[in-house]
Amino acid sequence: MTKKKQSWPIKAVMNQIYDMKLWGGKDFDFYSGDGSHHLEIINPYLEKTISFLDSFKQPLVVCDLGCGDFNIGKHLTPYTKKYIAIDIVDTLINRNKTLFKSDNLEFYCLDIIKDELPPADCIILRQVLQHLSNAEIKSILKKLHDYKYITLTEHIPLGDFIPNKDIISGQGIRLKQNSGVDLLKPPFNLKINYVKHLATYYLERPTKSQIITILYQLP
Ligand SMILES: C[S@@+](CC[C@H](N)C(=O)[O-])C[C@H]1O[C@@H](n2cnc3c(N)ncnc32)[C@H](O)[C@@H]1O
Repeated sequence: MTKKKQSWPIKAVMNQIYDMKLWGGKDFDFYSGDGSHHLEIINPYLEKTISFLDSFKQPLVVCDLGCGDFNIGKHLTPYTKKYIAIDIVDTLINRNKTLFKSDNLEFYCLDIIKDELPPADCIILRQVLQHLSNAEIKSILKKLHDYKYITLTEHIPLGDFIPNKDIISGQGIRLKQNSGVDLLKPPFNLKINYVKHLATYYLERPTKSQIITILYQLP
């Protein structure tokens, strides 16, 4: 009889990923993956996201859910009124607190699935939901209605695919099942005012796919 895959608590999963360097970067103390480091991926993302943040006369309060090793957030912080960076891995948050200091920057160790989230104008969710199950994504979405903007980055297949196939949360993503997260489709059906494409990076390997960043304005 084949054993059914058991899901681990998400905190243990993410701790193990960093401890065992499952997202690569063996020469780094913490490494959130190539998507957080490769310049050809991050530079167009940063350019477009900075230009969005910089377009406001009154800078936005930003909350980065799953901030990882902060190789992304450190570039965005200067363009915000306040940058609140959250991750579930406490050793990573302690490390970020010592490495990155700014008057408008705060780090918190929280589980964005279970914990209450701080108030902000804009949520950044960058390559986080792709690692979570549909039930976990739903719990997060319930808390996002109070925010005005979400910038969402997801690694998804190229061309047609069935969105939101369920997975057990972990290192992997839906790409293996030729699927990817689309918050506007069932079972999520996120209601929005408008959507704007911000950036896309195309990959040939492991399969033809894209890392896409979308801006949603919520009603
Ligand atoms: C692939 S990394 C991306 C990091 C960062 N957003 C970036 O783009 O560089 C995903 C991050 O989400 C965090 N994460 C996953 N589930 C979480 C949860 N339930 N609460 C808070 N952080 C979580 C992980 O610990 C990890 O640092």
